[in-house]
Amino acid sequence: MYEGLISGGAVRRLWFGETELYRQHLLRLDPESRRNRFGGAVSDEFIAHYAEPFALSGAIIYGSFVDGVLRGAAELRLLTREGEAEAALSVERPWQSHGVGTALLERVLLVAGNREIKRLHMICLAENRRVQQLARKFDAELAFQSGSVVVDLIAPRPTPISLIRELVADGAELATAMLDVASQLSKRIQHIDGSPARRPAQYRRLTLVDNWR
Ligand SMILES: CC(C)(COP(=O)(O)OP(=O)(O)OC[C@H]1O[C@@H](n2cnc3c(N)ncnc32)[C@H](O)[C@@H]1OP(=O)(O)O)[C@@H](O)C(=O)NCCC(=O)NCCS
Repeated sequence: MYEGLISGGAVRRLWFGETELYRQHLLRLDPESRRNRFGGAVSDEFIAHYAEPFALSGAIIYGSFVDGVLRGAAELRLLTREGEAEAALSVERPWQSHGVGTALLERVLLVAGNREIKRLHMICLAENRRVQQLARKFDAELAFQSGSVVVDLIAPRPTPISLIRELVADGAELATAMLDVASQLSKRIQHIDGSPARRPAQYRRLTLVDNWR
């Protein structure tokens, strides 16, 4: 029943314990997208450290899921300057130019506004026209510096409706995240051993939960 909830490119917040999904997504970026995301070529080891749970503890991450796999993400970090935050987007190549980046940036702007963030910055390489075009759709100001561009976006002021929108979305998304975890566990268990009688006891109990479907 819930398969539909975890497919189709839905955007939801990543919750505690889901940083591994983000790490795998970043590692799947093709070399050009990876370079654009990090402002230069970075190794797998760099990404592994970058996406460690403690390194991401200050970040709010939203993801776009297709068939239960994280294919796009927006990372939001509050800056020490009051009322300012930084965002970085990433969409895997086959899912680029399908509106995923737009949906993620729209969501991040809503969330930033609700946290009294007035200015949202993104830093990109000067040749990264795609993200610049995307930002222009949200009336961004672009400042060109040597080799890079600082994109400045104004987050919308919080309203009762924007706060309720985030609360309702987060509640629904937490439920979806729990279903995603159950689905992923179920797949892993099936991979370990198809026969219930031969599964270790801890996996048998998890399988019962998955049998809710
Ligand atoms: C930049 C990025 C996040 C955009 O995501 P996306 O899902 O491809 O973006 P969208 O499909 O929502 O397109 C957004 C806009 O970009 C522009 N765009 C799309 N494809 C483009 C292309 N091939 N060339 C130039 N502009 C393009 C369009 O203006 C589009 O809006 P429109 O479809 O309404 O006209 C994505 O391409 C990506 O992850 N790139 C690699 C990492 C990166 O550059 N991160 C940014 C660093 S902060």
